[in-house]
Amino acid sequence: MSVDRPGGLKWSYYDDDVLAAWVAEMDFGLAPAITAALHDAVDRGLTGYPYPDAGDALAEAATGFWARRFGWEVDPGFVYPAPDVVTGVRRVIEHLTPPGSPVVLHTPVYFPFFDMVRMAGRSIIEVPSPRDATGRYVLDLDAIHDAFAAGARSIVLCNPWNPTGRVMGTEEIGDLIELAKRFGGRVISDEIHGPIVFDGHHHVPAAAIDPETVVTVTAASKGWKLPGLKAAQVVLTSESDRAIWEEAFTPEKTGVGTFGLIASAAAYAEGEEWLDAVMRQLTTNRALVTERLSGMPGVTYAEPEGTYLAWATVEGMGDPVERLLTEGRVAVSGGAGFGSTAGNGIRINFATDPETLTAILDRIVATIG
Ligand SMILES: Cc1ncc(COP(=O)(O)O)c(C=O)c1O
Repeated sequence: MSVDRPGGLKWSYYDDDVLAAWVAEMDFGLAPAITAALHDAVDRGLTGYPYPDAGDALAEAATGFWARRFGWEVDPGFVYPAPDVVTGVRRVIEHLTPPGSPVVLHTPVYFPFFDMVRMAGRSIIEVPSPRDATGRYVLDLDAIHDAFAAGARSIVLCNPWNPTGRVMGTEEIGDLIELAKRFGGRVISDEIHGPIVFDGHHHVPAAAIDPETVVTVTAASKGWKLPGLKAAQVVLTSESDRAIWEEAFTPEKTGVGTFGLIASAAAYAEGEEWLDAVMRQLTTNRALVTERLSGMPGVTYAEPEGTYLAWATVEGMGDPVERLLTEGRVAVSGGAGFGSTAGNGIRINFATDPETLTAILDRIVATIG
């Protein structure tokens, strides 16, 4: 993969001597099909409001990709736009779960979920996830059961799971859905990392297991680096959800960006070869991370099954994120923002070239070693 450090949030936020392994952006530039589609859109002056043909083309392209890649058949008419995944999830909580009902978060998890639930005016029931014997995080179904018994009526499922890198299988997701269903609850499935799954694992769309209980929110923005263009998809596989949604969100109120629709359609329809090349690079990179972190004294790490994020917990260092920045001059994410038991966690973004990644890992190992 050719590598590109254009600045952007990841490479401009910290001082120049800091190596960036924090925000979930990749350094692999754009898929050629996306560049071409955006150039064409600029040439045609398509900077106006989103228009139906652009939304329809995206829905066709997205459902085609999900069918080919995941074996998930969805009617394109079930795909609704939202500006981004976090806003989409918030809208689902507000409109498709009982007013005032608490929301379950399985932690450690993508930290903006906490504020997002609060912005929806809901309380959070946090369920910390244990590690299994191999160090992989797993859902604590008993504690999630207790959360629903205490009044929760929805859980935001993060699968593939940022920051742990887990990719849950049919059984694990199915058990969660069964549990939510028993309480008349909903599973709101954030599948933004679905395209980024390593060999030996398979992304299972939760709605393919139960289209009535699950609401899916996803985007092309992680797989193809498009988050600045503002185009996510809320996939409503339940007829009653669609009726509520269509009342709440008339087309001009979705907040989606025209260029986002155009770029995402190109990604889903024509970006698979590029994505495959990204996965080959990420597979090489993941091996570099595993080689350096596994077995390190005081470090617990399980190789990610998906995402380009590696999560490790570090004993006896206080706040590793702060020390890595100030002493190691490497910016990672992590810490208690990801959940009450995540204070000693670091999340390393490994979507860069192997040379930069090696330098990042050198600095991490030297600082925590
Ligand atoms: C699990 C997860 N959900 C949502 C997002 C953010 O997506 P968006 O910018 O579309 O809200 C991210 C970004 O890294 C993420 O990892």
